[in-house]
Amino acid sequence: MLYPNLIDAIGHTPLVRLGLGAERGVEVYAKLEMNNLFAMKDRVAKQIITEARRTGELAEGAPIVESSSGTMALGVALVGSLLGHPVHIVTDPRIDRVTLSKLQALGCQVHVVPAMDDRGWQGARLTRLNQIMEENPGAFWPRQYENPQNPAAYRALAEELLADLGPVDVLVGAVGSGGSLCGTSRVLRQSEPDLYVVGVDCVGSVLFGQPDRPTRLQSGLGNSLNPENLDHSLIDEVHWLNDREAFGATRDLAREEKLFAGNTSGSVYRVLGAMADRAEPGVRIVGILPDRGDRYVDSVHDDTYWSEKQLTALPLAARPRQVLAGAEVDRWSYQRTSPDAPRPAFVFVESNTTGTGMLALRIAAQAGYEAVLATGDPDRYPGLAATGATVVDCDTNDVDDLRQAVTKALDLGRITAVSTTSEFYLVAAAELAIATGLPAQSPAALAGCRDKGLLRHTLQAAGVRQPAFEVVRDADQARTAAARIGTPCVVKPVDDSGSTRVVRCDDVEQAAALAAEIIAVGTNGRGQPTARAALIEQYLDAPEYSVEMFGVDGEHRLMGIVEKTVTGTPNFVESRHIVPADLPPQSAAELVATVRAALGAAGLERGPSHSEVKLTASGGAMIEINPRLAGGLIPELFRLATGVDLLAAQVAHAAGDEPALPEGFTRYAGIQFILPGAAGPLDRVDGVEQARRVEGVERVVVTASPGAAVAPPTDAYGRIGHVIATGNSRAAVTRALDTATALLSVQLRADRVEGPAPTAS
Ligand SMILES: Cc1ncc(COP(=O)(O)O)c(C=O)c1O
Repeated sequence: MLYPNLIDAIGHTPLVRLGLGAERGVEVYAKLEMNNLFAMKDRVAKQIITEARRTGELAEGAPIVESSSGTMALGVALVGSLLGHPVHIVTDPRIDRVTLSKLQALGCQVHVVPAMDDRGWQGARLTRLNQIMEENPGAFWPRQYENPQNPAAYRALAEELLADLGPVDVLVGAVGSGGSLCGTSRVLRQSEPDLYVVGVDCVGSVLFGQPDRPTRLQSGLGNSLNPENLDHSLIDEVHWLNDREAFGATRDLAREEKLFAGNTSGSVYRVLGAMADRAEPGVRIVGILPDRGDRYVDSVHDDTYWSEKQLTALPLAARPRQVLAGAEVDRWSYQRTSPDAPRPAFVFVESNTTGTGMLALRIAAQAGYEAVLATGDPDRYPGLAATGATVVDCDTNDVDDLRQAVTKALDLGRITAVSTTSEFYLVAAAELAIATGLPAQSPAALAGCRDKGLLRHTLQAAGVRQPAFEVVRDADQARTAAARIGTPCVVKPVDDSGSTRVVRCDDVEQAAALAAEIIAVGTNGRGQPTARAALIEQYLDAPEYSVEMFGVDGEHRLMGIVEKTVTGTPNFVESRHIVPADLPPQSAAELVATVRAALGAAGLERGPSHSEVKLTASGGAMIEINPRLAGGLIPELFRLATGVDLLAAQVAHAAGDEPALPEGFTRYAGIQFILPGAAGPLDRVDGVEQARRVEGVERVVVTASPGAAVAPPTDAYGRIGHVIATGNSRAAVTRALDTATALLSVQLRADRVEGPAPTAS
């Protein structure tokens, strides 16, 4: 193509279709601004300098001064020196040798400032630039960050796109000054008001509200200042990539598309991929690729540089995660800027039925997420409608169906967190999290805790103290095991919850009968197949505690120890909890050490865990690990005694935020469950008002409705209410619970059998 001079040859860059999205009929194009004489900013230099010459702001032969280490310096050097202006480029030692060579070869004066000032390199460069301006009266400074001719330079780019392609649906561009993306989209929007504009920034740049990280390595995009040329109102979505992700994407761009480019092109390429994945067939997406790879041979494209900068230590996201406004990001993430854009989604897989499940949905919604409940049975959850949560109806017991339903209902990237408040869906939630590219506890580790028999074997192999045990699959095995272990022994299903069918057996035949009963149950209350196995274990006559931990960054942080009271004759119904447990420091340390060893052996790394452990004369002995928050309103006791909401911590942590965890107790809190002493239809519980007036009592709640069939409970589900009390000592809480409990009496209907006062064992 013939041009009368180099300046006229600027622009007219190729537009090429990439392979991305092609198999789904999505059209992705790259505007190869890297094919300019130097790079994209040749356009800006041409526009700013010719306009300044036209208005007279830049006199014939007057010097041009610019602060830049990159494409703007090259553009100014090209256009300015070609038009006969002396060109001064102020830069710093981080300039790459290719750019430095090019600038020097063109005959510019390159001023390399030797040190940062209190405003960093940028400040030192501006000081030097001002000095040069003073020394050269009439000198012209293009000021790309605020000069409106910067965005105006991209009218030509937009017109080239329209001429080559016609309408564009999505435009993706890196943002440094904002000139290219805002200038191009402003023109395109005149003919296409629905154009969706996606900005690409880097982690640690302030352009879209992230905190400044001056150590970031990416060049070209990002900024420590907010440039006037960035018009946020034009941008619908912004993506951030960290240095590893941006540089890795640049290398992928070379390998996959044969485009040897700089890091801003790499980041744009990565985002184009995500937009293509999200787009419907027929959608036309254009990305602007600003410069070539030659300036980056010693950095982005160099393995030694990667290892020097320890780039592989940075996180690497396979997909971007939509984050809330104000969230700080450290890996590929995105935000939608329009207030009515879909919010990031927080998906819960089923829920517990104790009420905290519905509360968790509300907490997620209050934090700004779209709360979503994936469930096979919405009717199971009273109060679900009132939470405003979106319901994805699917077979949650089939992980494939769950994944398909959730990813059909929500864009993959919108799924910001996956969690559950149900014991029975821990593995499914972790699998869904992994399938959607989110960090998760290993499903195998969760499954290895959910199956108490497997856990016993794991703990045994790791040498963690625990009762003698055997997993049995029929009555004969149970008989032999009980005889070997000795009676009394405890018999339980390997995979239920809430102490269901956990029984102390005083003789071998009883153990065999109970095991047979357990093994005969093929499906649990959630319609899942059971393991059809029972655990026979040694009965340890020792006080029981639960150790509440929270795994953050691979470290299990202790939240507190709970003193537990279980009925234990013969069932193990948890009747009372008190936090914090009043334990001598050495006993507490022993329990915590036992639990830490158990968690490590089980391979648990992240999120809450509720571990039950007995304190025997010779130290802690593990009973079980529940890789979730404690039930039984223990989180409520923590809230009262520490001021910290553990459910909110779970929600925050699942969404990738640092959870606020308890840092000590300000008082004691306890709960006493109301346990009917006789069977029959419930009439009422007397004494509730008097119990509420007891000093220290926070609340008295009866959960069973009149007419409900009640009985002395054999598991957690048979409890019919509770009393919660707080106080400054364990004794005060115990007194309050005892006094309140003594005032309550469970009245049954019909023959009006009067139950004894609820057990407070
Ligand atoms: C290589 C490269 N890519 C992208 C950009 C960002 O473009 P803009 O300043 O138009 O926002 C720049 C800006 O300097 C750049 O040098």
